[in-house]
Amino acid sequence: MSNNDIQRIPVWSHALRIAHWVMAAAVVVLIATGWGMESNPLPASTLQDDHFLAAAFLIPAFLLRIYLLFFGAGTDHISDCEPDMNRLRSAAAVLKYYFSLGRSPLPNWYAHNPLWGPLYLLLFLFLLIQILSGALQQNPPYLGMINLHDVHVIGAYVITTFTVVHILAVFLHDLGGSGSDISAMINGHRIFILKKPVTAQQSGDVQSVSLDELRSSLKNKKKHSNEP
Ligand code: HEM
Ligand code: HEM
Repeated sequence: MSNNDIQRIPVWSHALRIAHWVMAAAVVVLIATGWGMESNPLPASTLQDDHFLAAAFLIPAFLLRIYLLFFGAGTDHISDCEPDMNRLRSAAAVLKYYFSLGRSPLPNWYAHNPLWGPLYLLLFLFLLIQILSGALQQNPPYLGMINLHDVHVIGAYVITTFTVVHILAVFLHDLGGSGSDISAMINGHRIFILKKPVTAQQSGDVQSVSLDELRSSLKNKKKHSNEP
């Protein structure tokens, strides 16, 4: 480790973090109140109020995230979630880490986890479907031939599963990696253990890394205002 430098680098913008935590809190409340209504439909009026209140937080946070996805820069942009050959290789290494129960090393990445990046895009699609099927629901809940209630329940299964697995995964990444991922989603900075060019070496389970290599995965390179 003495041959390596440790750097703390901003990778998540303020706007992305605000969108993340508002969406995360709203989704947790929507899951709890939604399944509460499903299992106990009669005295559900406060559950329904809370469901709509959480939806009122989810929608602007989601719209902000979608705006950043298409019009943002750096790691906000959709290109940071898209797979390429390099990321597919790292994604396979993340899977190997899961299947070896943490015995195989976790690879390095810059911002979005290479395995999870495309899954986040899929989640955004399901959140859109969930918002539309919730907002357009009437009695009877049909939009043409489509039963919006059924669509909403299927969406709820997908989003609930995503949430449980996502929380487990980020805990595992924080535990097995050196990036301080969870605190990075709070303060914006990930930790990188940088290779010194001449004495580059690997120590234990923590892999040293060339920051330029990792940054090269950023396709939309316009910088954040808080980047050094
Ligand atoms: C205690 C709860 C949670 C924690 C600690 C947490 C933590 C994190 C962390 C560390 C990342 C970065 C992962 C990476 O390297 O790719 C992340 C990303 C993300 N998380 Fe969570 N998360 C939580 C709950 C949720 C929930 C409930 C949702 C929504 C269903 C969610 C949606 C996302 C999305 C979409 C991203 C990608 C970042 C972006 O592009 O906006 N998270 N989360
Ligand atoms: C993460 C997002 C969401 C999840 C997991 C979720 C989950 C659920 C679940 C499980 C139900 C119960 C279905 C049943 O009774 O069989 C439900 C009902 C409902 N949800 Fe959501 N929901 C979400 C987002 C939304 C949003 C954004 C809206 C509105 C814009 C919405 C509006 C509704 C409505 C109108 C109902 C029917 C209430 C009733 O029949 O009394 N939901 N939701």
